Amino acid sequence: MDIKSIDDVEIKNSTVLVRVDYNVTLGKDKKIIDDLRIRQTLPTLKVLLKHKNKLILCSHLGDPKDHDRTLTLLPVANYLSKLINHPVILVNDWNNKKSRPLFDRQNSAIILLDNLRFWPGEMANDEDFARSLAELADIFVQDAFGVCHRPHASVIGIPKLLPSYAGLLLKSEIETISNILEHPKKPTISILGGAKISTKIKMLYKLIDRSQVLLLGGGMANTFLHAQGHEVGNSLFEKQEGEEARLILNHAKNKQVDLILPIDVIVKTKQNRIMTKLLSEVKKEMIIGDIGPATRELFASRISRGKTIIWNGPMGMVEKSVFQAGNNAVYSAIVGDRQAFSLVGGGDTIASIASKKNVDRISHLSTGGGAMIEFIEGGTLPGIEAIKG
Ligand code: 3PG
Repeated sequence: MDIKSIDDVEIKNSTVLVRVDYNVTLGKDKKIIDDLRIRQTLPTLKVLLKHKNKLILCSHLGDPKDHDRTLTLLPVANYLSKLINHPVILVNDWNNKKSRPLFDRQNSAIILLDNLRFWPGEMANDEDFARSLAELADIFVQDAFGVCHRPHASVIGIPKLLPSYAGLLLKSEIETISNILEHPKKPTISILGGAKISTKIKMLYKLIDRSQVLLLGGGMANTFLHAQGHEVGNSLFEKQEGEEARLILNHAKNKQVDLILPIDVIVKTKQNRIMTKLLSEVKKEMIIGDIGPATRELFASRISRGKTIIWNGPMGMVEKSVFQAGNNAVYSAIVGDRQAFSLVGGGDTIASIASKKNVDRISHLSTGGGAMIEFIEGGTLPGIEAIKG
């Protein structure tokens, strides 16, 4: 892909505005629950600091309505400062011209602008808003793969106004995901889960075209099971996607891809009991929360034969501990297979495994959720196109 990264040019003694994706999950006490997205930006920041650049970072956090101050990036600023062992100053009213002298006084500290989505101009891709960001720096570095699918000011607006380059994280996401899709070692086993198929239809087709086996779990699998005539009770599923699900099943059959759905499930009964059921035993009043033990075994055995493994979307309602076994089984099978190249992405998927042992055995943990899906679907993203020379 013909984008220039900070590896291809010498950026030194400049003021560099870096778009990062610090949209991390915060606990009630404002503790950072999963720091992957912060850690993954360190290589870019360190290279730029080494070459005596002044760094101004910008990111969004959540979707703050009415300037919701609880979504300040202050906890991230403090966390980053410890992680990189360098002072980090959070600037809230950077958009106010009176704050500008502060930027000049901060010679060595990293500046982090507070949540970009505090200003409506960010999501509206307002030109004046993009200009007020661009005016802060000489050079723009895009390192927020996770937000490159959004047509926002800090994604597609700023590159029109400043010389722009990809950071090392963005470069590595593009190269790794492209490579796995274009030159996969076979067999490729793709595992998809999460709530809906409606947001992943194109991805399902793309993965069928590139995989030998497709394993489906989560709420998404319920839509397929229902389309096949199985009872899914009160479970999460998309009735209106039944026809699409049948088309996808047909496409897999035509392509001779082994599309495997759960053969048993864990349900919650009307009496709130958690039970294992065969598909034929699911009743109207039940809720499917996870794949069952026979499915876990089936999925694990297929994963263990893969040379390339792609996983996006949890296997069940993993926010409840009683429905985590399916997800854990898939995770263990992936990290247990040390011969395969594994790509795992999606915000919920990463959050569901972040604190587990052996996460480092996953070959590539993508920082993208929606961005990873759209990149697989389309081979590029608006934010990547924006920084092409
Ligand atoms: C993500 O978490 O996927 C990115 O940070 C993008 O966030 P968004 O879905 O709120 O635009």
